[in-house]
Parts: sequence; structure tokens; C-alpha cells
Amino acid sequence: MALVTALKRLAHVRLREYSRRTAAATSGAWLTGRRSFTTGTQTLRSDNKVTVHFINRDGEKITVKGSPGDSLLDIVINEDLDFDGFGACEGTLACSTCHLIFDEDVYKKLGPVTDEEMDMLDLAYGLTDTSRLGCQICLTKSLEGMVARVPESVADIRQSKDESA
Ligand code: FES
Repeated sequence: MALVTALKRLAHVRLREYSRRTAAATSGAWLTGRRSFTTGTQTLRSDNKVTVHFINRDGEKITVKGSPGDSLLDIVINEDLDFDGFGACEGTLACSTCHLIFDEDVYKKLGPVTDEEMDMLDLAYGLTDTSRLGCQICLTKSLEGMVARVPESVADIRQSKDESA
């Protein structure tokens, strides 16, 4: 009988110890603000988004947000924007269908153009002095509020090659 009592007491002590540790861990997480840290991180992430205004061929303005590091092609895909024929080569610099036109001040912030991009741009329909390929432009915070104009038409160099073959 004494053995049963001793076992019950031991079980009770263990249970109490377990409850105390669990409570401490839970309140510790609460006290250290782990839950609010998560909320804070989510807030930071949404604050970290960059707003982009696309002007579609029909003049419609479409405002979306992307994360720094996303290309403009990524945003068009992620936001399921309906720009006919846009991004046909999926960013492999083989089509020029992601041609976009920018205001001068934005264009200056876009970074250098590679020779490969320039070669593709030369084949783009309606090329301007401030044209770039959307798959080669990655968002940065300094581009917040940028406007990207979709040209009136697209030229997919791959189709031209196919037709001439
Ligand atoms: S998506 Fe084809 S060159 Fe950009």
C-alpha cells in the first residue's frame, strides 16, 4: 500500500512539474512577444512591398505590389495580369514580348542594360529611348510608385524566326 501511495505521489509531482514547465514556456513565449513578433514580421513584409502601376494597351491603369527582387515579369505572372502575349519566353531573353516603356526619371533608376537585353530590345515593337525588358527589371524600394507602360503591340522574335524558316 505504501508503494502505491509513493507512486501516486511521484506521479502527482511529475504532473505538477510538467504543468509548471508548460505554463512557463507558454507565458515565456507570450512575455517575449513571440506572437506579436510574428505579427510584426508580417507587417514588415507588407510594408516592404513596392507599388507598381502598369498602364495597359487600352490606357487602363493597374496598380499592384511586388517584393524587392521580383522582376516585373514575376509581378505580371503573380498578379495574373492580362497583357496579351507578355513574357512569352518566361524571362529567358528570347522574345522581347516583355517590352515596357518608362518615364525618364524611372528609367534612370533601372540599372544598366546588358548586351543581351539590348539585342532583344532592338527587336521590340515601338522601341523608345526609355524602353526596357520587364523580365530584366528587378524591383527595389527606390522604384516605389513606378509606372510601366505596356506598348501598343508586341513582337515575338521567335515567331518571326519560325515564320521565316
Ligand atoms: S520574357 Fe522574353 S525577353 Fe523577357
